[in-house]
Amino acid sequence: MAYVITIDGPAGAGKSSIAKRLAQLLGIHYLDTGAIYRAIALILAEAEVRPEESEFLEEALSDIRIELRDGAVLVNGFDVSREIRTPRVDELASTYSALPSVRRALLGLQQDQEQYGSLVVEGRDEGSVVFPRAPLKFFLTASPEERARRRCLERERRGESVCYDEVLAAIKERDHYDSSRALAPLVQPEGAVLVDTSKMSEEEVVELLLSRVRGALSRGEVTA
Ligand code: DC
Repeated sequence: MAYVITIDGPAGAGKSSIAKRLAQLLGIHYLDTGAIYRAIALILAEAEVRPEESEFLEEALSDIRIELRDGAVLVNGFDVSREIRTPRVDELASTYSALPSVRRALLGLQQDQEQYGSLVVEGRDEGSVVFPRAPLKFFLTASPEERARRRCLERERRGESVCYDEVLAAIKERDHYDSSRALAPLVQPEGAVLVDTSKMSEEEVVELLLSRVRGALSRGEVTA
């Protein structure tokens, strides 16, 4: 039987690398829902569709075909995995993802992934809205300062020049926006295990989550 593990939390809490590693260790699929929101935001912005509810938005959404293939996001057949990792798309994704019709358009696509087998899914509303009945939910967080430090390191590794203060300000602004939006705001889902990763290494977080999953599997709370 397929099972779903949800990992929600703010930007920079370490969700992606931890979710990916956890899925790998469990031998199940990994779904990065932020990448889907990023892809759709990029396409809408390029098509000059304003980030507000309108018939243009509805029409544009019905023309977009999103496919997930081996961790890559394809929009109308094109791989946009690289283009979606820019500060501009950080902002666009935050703006467009607050729109009800965008969230509606992506809900089924996310839920459908369960049919391909067990998965670790990461995002903002996975445990609260998309997979509310998931047997195991985590909420990862870290201080804004620590998250900004991690984001800067990530960008430096990609050869980009970064300014810590700017990254920190952007993180705080995005936190506020993602948590205060009316629809599916970023919240700790009911029943989710809260993990503050500020002072933990990636390996420590993975170990903690893995032991929780293994415990739940052995007690039959999660059936594989
Ligand atoms: O995790 P990320 O930074 O790649 O996510 C990009 C944006 O998408 C973020 O601003 C919030 C939004 N998002 C969302 O609203 N719901 C999700 N399940 C995942 C991401």
